Amino acid sequence: MNLSIRRMTLEDVPTVHAIDILSFSLPWPERSFRFELTENPVSRCWVALSGERIAAMLVLWLIVDEAHIATLATHPDFRRQGVGERLMLAALLSARAEGAERAFLEVRAGNSGALALYKKYGFVVAGIRPRYYQNNNEDAILMNLDDLNISEAA
Ligand SMILES: CC(C)(COP(=O)(O)OP(=O)(O)OC[C@H]1O[C@@H](n2cnc3c(N)ncnc32)[C@H](O)[C@@H]1OP(=O)(O)O)[C@@H](O)C(=O)NCCC(=O)NCCS
Repeated sequence: MNLSIRRMTLEDVPTVHAIDILSFSLPWPERSFRFELTENPVSRCWVALSGERIAAMLVLWLIVDEAHIATLATHPDFRRQGVGERLMLAALLSARAEGAERAFLEVRAGNSGALALYKKYGFVVAGIRPRYYQNNNEDAILMNLDDLNISEAA
């Protein structure tokens, strides 16, 4: 696929929000993406495009030397085509270039696809928050990647 990756803009937000709704049982309000873009200094917001179309989005928080993946979703039309991993890799490599040394995220215990994606890139389970998600009492799995020396060959 002819994929390009760039930083998210305010014009992208309606489409990003639509992908969020298609992807999560508790999507962010649209204003949250605008906040991340305009008011949160630690936020790095990315999109992956297939041609002109936004195929995936990612928000990462860079706090000193820690990168926290706040959200990541691929539009259902583009899943299992390597889009999510390429976007995550680009965001993590950019965070590393800005000084990040390790990465963190939370994922629903039943989200086997996302867990497989993160494990493929070396994330390991660091803990569990029981019944963290209030809409269905699902556990949150905390994962971390201690060494951000990842590469596209992972
Ligand atoms: C999780 C998600 C972002 C993956 O995006 P994607 O673009 O489909 O993922 P990729 O095609 O880049 O997959 C990369 C690797 O992740 C793993 N993977 C991704 N989706 C998977 C699935 N449904 N089942 C099993 N493994 C999966 C595989 O190892 C895959 O490599 P492979 O295709 O060579 O086997 C996407 O399924 C999604 O948006 N889900 C809904 C939102 C979500 O759960 N986000 C993560 C929240 S923590």
